[in-house]
Amino acid sequence: MRVGIIGLGNFGTAMANLVANNGHEVIGWEYHEAVVDEINTQHTNQRFLADVPLHHNLTATTQIETGVQEREAIFIAIPTVFIHATLQPLRNQIADNAVLINLAKGIDRRSGLTAFQIITNIFPHHRRVMLSGPSIANEFARGLPTVVVAAGEHEHDLWLTAQLLDNDHFRVHFSDDAIGVELGGILKNIYAIGLGMFDGQSLQSVNLRAVYLTAALAEMARIGQGFGASIETFLYLSGVGDLLATALSEHSHNRRMGELLAQGLHIADIQDRMGVLPEGYTTLQSIRAVAEKRRISIPLATGLWQVIQGTLSTETFVQGLIKGFIE
Ligand SMILES: NC(=O)c1ccc[n+]([C@@H]2O[C@H](COP(=O)([O-])OP(=O)(O)OC[C@H]3O[C@@H](n4cnc5c(N)ncnc54)[C@H](O)[C@@H]3O)[C@@H](O)[C@H]2O)c1
Repeated sequence: MRVGIIGLGNFGTAMANLVANNGHEVIGWEYHEAVVDEINTQHTNQRFLADVPLHHNLTATTQIETGVQEREAIFIAIPTVFIHATLQPLRNQIADNAVLINLAKGIDRRSGLTAFQIITNIFPHHRRVMLSGPSIANEFARGLPTVVVAAGEHEHDLWLTAQLLDNDHFRVHFSDDAIGVELGGILKNIYAIGLGMFDGQSLQSVNLRAVYLTAALAEMARIGQGFGASIETFLYLSGVGDLLATALSEHSHNRRMGELLAQGLHIADIQDRMGVLPEGYTTLQSIRAVAEKRRISIPLATGLWQVIQGTLSTETFVQGLIKGFIE
């Protein structure tokens, strides 16, 4: 198949390479010109996916129209904050029968829309798939076993997604709960920041982690229900699975942000260091407003926000957690 990828960052490059290794012809658009040159000449991407050799079926371009024209499937792998500005000009550039597969996991702060909702608004008549689940790029890019979940309106599109991605170490499962699958991936980023903060402050108690992650999962499911998602979706890979992977992985950008906060770094310093702030931070800002409007109780996320803002001490937060303010 002829496949396009928008964004050859950490996740986009790992996905592009997986699809290329599976025998498909892949062209990726990337914002950073040096990354494009390196992929085309060296077949590596040291900036975003160091030390992983890239397949010759993968080429890169800075011309976004070239990356999307005459493609049967197009993966979207840029942070949510860039999706509207990047995709809006492509409204009439993408073939009518192309399937759009969203990999971004975030909520736009201004509109309160999820990445998949933004894509749906721009391309209402295209076939669309939401892909999520525990899939740390640095792991599956090195052949470590990974299982993800695809959700969409038409089963045919889920099979097409599986045809592109499935191999001996990577599998795609199906769901019909697109908003539940997407929200699991979006919301767990918030709670991964919190776990990074605890670990960064040497609160490395397995008991506390268990309490915290249980409370996080309950809050994720409660938010999901407020959006019409099915609670069972949160008990599978794109919910609890992704929460555990992101909260516990040393490669997670969101968890890393929590560790840097624990070291006393300010948001501006973290942005300087990380380039783009991890999506969990913007999601945390957005979800507070959305939860208020939908009258969903989110004490854990609210407490985390107060800890990040310095208006609540970590000790008070932990006390509240074990005394049950999370319920
Ligand atoms: N990294 C992972 O393991 C992983 C796993 C699952 C989902 N995701 C999701 O994938 C998405 C991308 O994450 P990532 O980790 O690859 O990010 P990254 O920081 O590695 O890459 C950032 C990407 O954004 C692009 N970009 C930067 N400035 C831009 C601009 N002004 N306009 C358009 N694009 C711009 C970069 O070129 C790059 O492709 C996020 O939504 C993330 O939640 C990541």
